[in-house]
Amino acid sequence: MQILLTGSSGVVGTYVLLHLLKEGHKVIAVDRIPLPPTTLTSLQGTYQDLDDILKVEVVDLTSIGEVISLFSRYTSPPDDTPSKSSSIDGVIHLAAIPHPEGNDARFVHNTNTSISYNVLYTAAEHGIRRIVQASSVNFTGLAYTRKGMQRFDKLPIDEDEPSHAEDPYALSKQICEIQALSLCRLHPSLTIASLRFHHVLPTLAQAVEWSREEEFWMWTSSLSAAQACIMGLTTPQEGRWKGHEAFNIVAPEIAWRDATAGSLELLGKSEWNDEGRIGLVDREWWEGGRRRGFWDCTKAERLLGWRHV
Ligand SMILES: NC(=O)c1ccc[n+]([C@@H]2O[C@H](COP(=O)([O-])OP(=O)(O)OC[C@H]3O[C@@H](n4cnc5c(N)ncnc54)[C@H](O)[C@@H]3O)[C@@H](O)[C@H]2O)c1
Repeated sequence: MQILLTGSSGVVGTYVLLHLLKEGHKVIAVDRIPLPPTTLTSLQGTYQDLDDILKVEVVDLTSIGEVISLFSRYTSPPDDTPSKSSSIDGVIHLAAIPHPEGNDARFVHNTNTSISYNVLYTAAEHGIRRIVQASSVNFTGLAYTRKGMQRFDKLPIDEDEPSHAEDPYALSKQICEIQALSLCRLHPSLTIASLRFHHVLPTLAQAVEWSREEEFWMWTSSLSAAQACIMGLTTPQEGRWKGHEAFNIVAPEIAWRDATAGSLELLGKSEWNDEGRIGLVDREWWEGGRRRGFWDCTKAERLLGWRHV
């Protein structure tokens, strides 16, 4: 497949780019900054045909004109013909401002929501029918929401958990998912998978090092995030899913340095135990394993065929 990947110079984007090329895909790598020199040098040493399999595009995705021009370079002009050919088989949209700390709230919200609408709308308009976008477990209001203000109706957390978001990053991810839903109504043959990642890191050792109570001691491996991106574009949908779907993409177990501690035991001693922050706890979930995580990813397993590695 030829895949247009946004945010390709970022942390997750770099990993996804390397994974896509390794899996034999061609990539149009899009970011407002060029690929890091270390990434480029490593790729030049690995692939002799790099110019054929990788195109690098430096684009400010907040600019409607630049986004239209980008898609027009690789696809026919938009029209209403459903069979319009496109040399882009799918889009993986990762570009965003992922750290609200130190950034103006309006900048985070406006950048994330305008970038996503520009990319998703223009891709659909140019005949692309498979899109994946990075969402986040922060959708519900977690890491950047004021301490003590996070709320969950139910544990484990599934994709139906309502958002209690009050911070600009969580809100932006919520809006990006609503945009996807709306665009799938506009284009009935379009599918968009919003992947709710959680603290994406290459190894379990790093996840243990960075593990945080306020994030339920959870993470997503970089490889699993990259595999979910590909599955969101390639998994056959017949009878499984259509339109927009959100998927929890999180490790199955907590990453906590005390390997003897069970998840519910940690929860009981934590700030989450405060009155009113968590509604129902489905204790049967943890009969499947004491260290089981706090996000239910069975939807991604069922509909995408994805499993954390
Ligand atoms: N890293 C995580 O743990 C994590 C967890 C959950 C969700 N996510 C989501 O995954 C995606 C990637 O996150 P990341 O950690 O790699 O972030 P990052 O900041 O490392 O990468 C984001 C990239 O987007 C690019 N970008 C920002 N504004 C742009 C613009 N106007 N035009 C073009 N490019 C622009 C940046 O230059 C950067 O390279 C984001 O959508 C983030 O919200 C990340």
